[in-house]
Amino acid sequence: MSTALEPFDAVDVIHAKRDGRAVAENELRWLVDAYTRGYVSDAQMAAFAMAVLLNGMSRDEIRVLTDAMIDSGERLSFEGLGRPTVDKHSTGGVGDKITLPLAPLVASFGVAVPQLSGRGLGHTGGTLDKLESIPGWRAALSNDEMLAQLREIGAVICAAGSGLAPADKKLYALRDVTGTVEAIPLIASSIMSKKIAEGTSALVLDVKFGSGAFMREQERARELARTMVALGSDSGVATTALLTDMSTPLGLAIGNANEVRESVEVLSGGGPADVVELTVALAREMLALAGQPDADVAAALSDGRAMDVWRAMIRAQDGDPGAALPAPRETHTVTADRDGVVTRMEALPFGVAAWRLGAGRARAEDRIVHAAGIDLHVKPGDAVTAGQPVFTLLADDPTRFDRALGALEGAWDIGDAAPARTPLVLERITA
Ligand code: URA
Repeated sequence: MSTALEPFDAVDVIHAKRDGRAVAENELRWLVDAYTRGYVSDAQMAAFAMAVLLNGMSRDEIRVLTDAMIDSGERLSFEGLGRPTVDKHSTGGVGDKITLPLAPLVASFGVAVPQLSGRGLGHTGGTLDKLESIPGWRAALSNDEMLAQLREIGAVICAAGSGLAPADKKLYALRDVTGTVEAIPLIASSIMSKKIAEGTSALVLDVKFGSGAFMREQERARELARTMVALGSDSGVATTALLTDMSTPLGLAIGNANEVRESVEVLSGGGPADVVELTVALAREMLALAGQPDADVAAALSDGRAMDVWRAMIRAQDGDPGAALPAPRETHTVTADRDGVVTRMEALPFGVAAWRLGAGRARAEDRIVHAAGIDLHVKPGDAVTAGQPVFTLLADDPTRFDRALGALEGAWDIGDAAPARTPLVLERITA
């Protein structure tokens, strides 16, 4: 800890935010830097975060906070690549495997797609956990390896190094245990500091709302999306956001290995309609930002171009794209108790059930069971007859089934009439 005289006092900054006054740029920058250095304590930063949650932040304050978090670590640059870079970020949901088919699909148009991803915590899965179902696949790449792969193949999905926005890492862990995760200025600056530090020239955000999403209400998801789009454009990163529905799991697979299998189906020109729709919608937005608004995205899925990039991308990270994926030791299938139509499948309880089966982790150090999860056989709107399989639980240990079934009680229904169809992509937000 430094013994030099500090230019500000954390208590003054906390008072300003607590009392609804603006925090000056140099004070906010100092706060983030002094917190990262360990001079400002966790208790003080938690008080500041709570004041932000209660009183909000102006657009200028959010921009300064984001810049300060970027400045706390390294900044990557993709300028030497000689092709445009476009990244995508999803705020996370149940069955959200879209990054897997999307990155190779967009790269098949000559655009570089750097996807610096994370692991799952709680009921939403992590992209790296899913890919680690593939025998041999390696998430940790050096910056040089990542750049070489982007140059040669165009797509890379790898672990974000700890050098990007370390202030965010510390603050996010603190928010997690102080009831301050939900503050929109803190979420927006957290996500965007990492994306801007990563050095992408354009970014498409999939901001989800609904029971399986971080934001339950569409209104709050819209506010988060607008805040992030503004931060991107203030930093020279062309940013578009789609608001998408996460009240029902995405696709038919919830887990890790089964989500890889479903992604490969999409890359083979098949796959569930909602996964294809969202992959195509996000790919169009990414390619539009990269200067290809008329790209025939669907053709690249059906003619194998995207699949070729997928195979090369997996091989480049020591994975075997042709290897068998882990299979569960135990399964338990739940069937329909009557004839009718599936009216509802709530995303959150299905995500929690998959997690309880071993597909997710409760603590960062927990081990994932890659074969665990849930395979849905039907989705809301599908007709079923009594005795027909509705979903199958997958696990290595049959004692997990009861807890998963407990989470699923009341989470799905069979009725007489099909539910009203709601769109998957509800809004598009640009600067
Ligand atoms: N993801 C992040 O990276 N940060 C947040 O604050 C929330 C979700």
